[in-house]
Amino acid sequence: MGEFDGKTAVLTGAAGGVGYQTATMLVADGADVHIIDLLDPPALPEGPGRATYHQGDVTDWDFVSGVFDGLKKLDYLVNSAGVLWFGKDVSAIDIDFDIWDKVMDINLKSMVMTMKCAVPMMQERGGAIVNIASIQCLRGDPAPQDAYQASKAGVIALTKSIAIQYAGDGIRANSVLPGGAWTPLQERWDRDPEAARRAAEAVPLGRVGQAEDIANAVMFLLSDKASWITGTEMIVDGGVTALP
Ligand SMILES: NC(=O)c1ccc[n+]([C@@H]2O[C@H](COP(=O)([O-])OP(=O)(O)OC[C@H]3O[C@@H](n4cnc5c(N)ncnc54)[C@H](O)[C@@H]3O)[C@@H](O)[C@H]2O)c1
Repeated sequence: MGEFDGKTAVLTGAAGGVGYQTATMLVADGADVHIIDLLDPPALPEGPGRATYHQGDVTDWDFVSGVFDGLKKLDYLVNSAGVLWFGKDVSAIDIDFDIWDKVMDINLKSMVMTMKCAVPMMQERGGAIVNIASIQCLRGDPAPQDAYQASKAGVIALTKSIAIQYAGDGIRANSVLPGGAWTPLQERWDRDPEAARRAAEAVPLGRVGQAEDIANAVMFLLSDKASWITGTEMIVDGGVTALP
């Protein structure tokens, strides 16, 4: 039996690259995984654990709270839903306020909603939360997506605060900061593999990330191996942010 056997997890954005890979790993290890995503259901990961699909919008409080209301218990929460809207999410100086608000709602406020549901369910027996931010919020960008950038900085701050508020209840909360990983979020690389090759050249470890690279970090932070780790950030970027 794996350590995730019989545990219950909620994962947002888990029809997408990182979330789906994490869901697959958790189900393979015996967990009961509840996947939330806007998209039509993908082929669900198969046992020994079980995957249940909840199609809906992470910014819809009635939908989100309804998913949690249907659970008997909760051990893990992974917030992976996120949007990077190239072309619409631009400099703060030029951005349409509706786009700004929508990105904030999806990338940040959704995590407020899911944690508002999850934390009370974890308070008796403890639990672990992993929120996906991005290395993009650690630096400026001459080709900006400012709403994305600011929302991801908010994810780090929010996660740290929740970690400190609920550490006494045995709830751990950490952020993962991926670098560029070839998932549907970066579908521009499917259209322009040359751009992916250039992105890989800028990575000290010589390649862009894959969903597995990020999911491995999430699994570690959920696991008991990380039982003394809370309120921090794990950068998973092939060395990009370590460059001078
Ligand atoms: N792939 C990268 O290069 C990269 C880099 C840094 C950070 N990240 C972050 O990692 C996380 C996972 O991204 P990914 O690479 O797996 O991308 P992805 O696009 O494959 O997955 C994101 C999922 O979120 C879902 N989603 C978006 N809006 C939603 C909503 N309103 N309600 C419900 N679901 C919604 C999408 O349908 C999608 O399936 C995101 O938060 C992203 O910002 C990704």
